[in-house]
Amino acid sequence: MSLKEQIDLTKLPKHIAIIMDGNGRWARQQGRNRIFGHTNGVKCVKTTSEACTELGVRYLTLYAFSTENWYRPAAEVSGLMLLLLKTIKAELKTLLKNDIRLRVIGDMSVLPKGVVKELNEAVANTANNKRMDLILALSYSGKQEITNAVKKIVAQVKEGKVEEKDINEDLITNNLYTAGIPDPELLIRTSGEQRVSNFLLWQLAYAEYYFTDVFWPDFKQEELYKAIVEYQNRERRFGKTSEQLVTK
Ligand code: FPP
Repeated sequence: MSLKEQIDLTKLPKHIAIIMDGNGRWARQQGRNRIFGHTNGVKCVKTTSEACTELGVRYLTLYAFSTENWYRPAAEVSGLMLLLLKTIKAELKTLLKNDIRLRVIGDMSVLPKGVVKELNEAVANTANNKRMDLILALSYSGKQEITNAVKKIVAQVKEGKVEEKDINEDLITNNLYTAGIPDPELLIRTSGEQRVSNFLLWQLAYAEYYFTDVFWPDFKQEELYKAIVEYQNRERRFGKTSEQLVTK
């Protein structure tokens, strides 16, 4: 049976989050520059999004640029921004055709104006699409997101809209960038690194983590299927015992 056939479509993760790592090392292995790695990484963004849409995954969140990534060499940062701009322009038609809604999480205010304009247009044009939400984390960090949520809540308290007794997990969840989006059940990180690197810190509390040595530009559809099959073979207990889990 192929890996794809091993996937139980009735037990798909609704939301998959991916830390796309290893573009630089993949390029270096071939004696090429880092942007060559990122350019090839974009191809895998496309194939992975298509594969998730085809399977029926409802949300896909990709860590495309962290707040820490701003400290990379200026040429790499501008190369990545240009790649992002070109990709959004080139792929808008495909997003519309495939009924994919583009969303962005992170601090958009620090992105180059041209990128923000292109992103806002694509986000607005795809807002009514229903098949899958493709969420790009851009200039994103989990700590920054939580800090931002705290500030928003304090402002609501000051305005008298929220009282101390109202402060609970739901309120915090609803003030994150991801408000209204269910938490990911599966986190994938490529390239052999085993960290979350400030990604979706609140939302990944109960996710299954899947680490693979494959570099992101080599993350083809089969690699995605492998991750989903492994996820489906894990027992998600949420703090309970195996015996307490209701089995079919
Ligand atoms: C990590 O590899 C990758 C990134 C920091 C950027 C990811 C960006 C893309 C795949 C392209 C742009 C995305 C979209 C959605 C159009 P790395 O550079 O950290 O690799 P290394 O650890 O081997 O150096």
